[in-house]
Amino acid sequence: MMRQDHLVAAGQLSRADVERVLDRAAEFDAALSAGGGEALPARYPETVLALCFYEPSTRTKMSFETAMKRLGGQVVDMGGVDASSVSKGESLADTVRVVEGYADGVVLRHPREGAAKMAAEFVDAPVINAGDGAGQHPSQTLLDLYTIREAAGLDDLTIGIVGDLKYGRTVHSLATALTEFDAHMHFVSPESLRLPRSVRFDLHEAGAELREHTEIDDVLPDLDVLYVTRIQRERFPDEDEYQKVAGEFQIDAETLAAAKEDLTVMHPLPRVDEIDPDIDDTDHASYFEQAHNGVPVRMALLDLLFQNHE
Ligand code: NCD
Repeated sequence: MMRQDHLVAAGQLSRADVERVLDRAAEFDAALSAGGGEALPARYPETVLALCFYEPSTRTKMSFETAMKRLGGQVVDMGGVDASSVSKGESLADTVRVVEGYADGVVLRHPREGAAKMAAEFVDAPVINAGDGAGQHPSQTLLDLYTIREAAGLDDLTIGIVGDLKYGRTVHSLATALTEFDAHMHFVSPESLRLPRSVRFDLHEAGAELREHTEIDDVLPDLDVLYVTRIQRERFPDEDEYQKVAGEFQIDAETLAAAKEDLTVMHPLPRVDEIDPDIDDTDHASYFEQAHNGVPVRMALLDLLFQNHE
């Protein structure tokens, strides 16, 4: 981003870029807490953001919409795939070229890996990748980093990332970004859901310190942050393969007994059964806060993208 106008992968973000977004987000967070008003002038009354979601979304779509509206801007929404011309067979390239005529920026979620990168080649307006299949989800990473910074700090961080590391796009983006902060990363998954080779390669290239495990207990006592993910059922080519790993990691009070007192538990949500609701009321739980952080962080991201693009 910052270096380019589109945000398609977390690898684009330097440490300085991340810090710029998070610092700006903290200002928006404070303004939102103050109740808006003078603290939050309408910055972009003439600016329209297009939401093109080819896959289900609650948090990402609604928080982008909320963020844009809190900035005083406008939103147009393609609606679901069934409601749009996608169902008539229109290509993604054609759709984004048309949408660019209506809007000043495009937020795109698509089941195909590489979709946002491809779309960005067809349009001048900034494209934000809101998830491309099992690829990347860089705006989620920014709010994850914001949450980590608030809860545990980003320096000398030891983080455990658990669950579906193969198909989990939030994991791929987060791990890449954490190399900028020299985090100690532990990856916990069933053997069949290990981090993809390409991601491991990128992490090694970036000089990351990473370890892989199959049991949470092996690493839990060392962790500052435990980042839990959903097994991405919709990405499995075969339902039987999903059933073999479904319910593999379930975090409950017993699991956390060996954790540091100030362990932060995160999850991009939605959760299925990975975190016992009993954890929700403990001081460990940060996942709802994490989801709420989507608004100030996406405000910061949009603000920086639109400023750059003026
Ligand atoms: C994630 C996603 O869509 O990749 N959700 C989100 O954006 N918060 C995680 C998931 O679906 O499991």
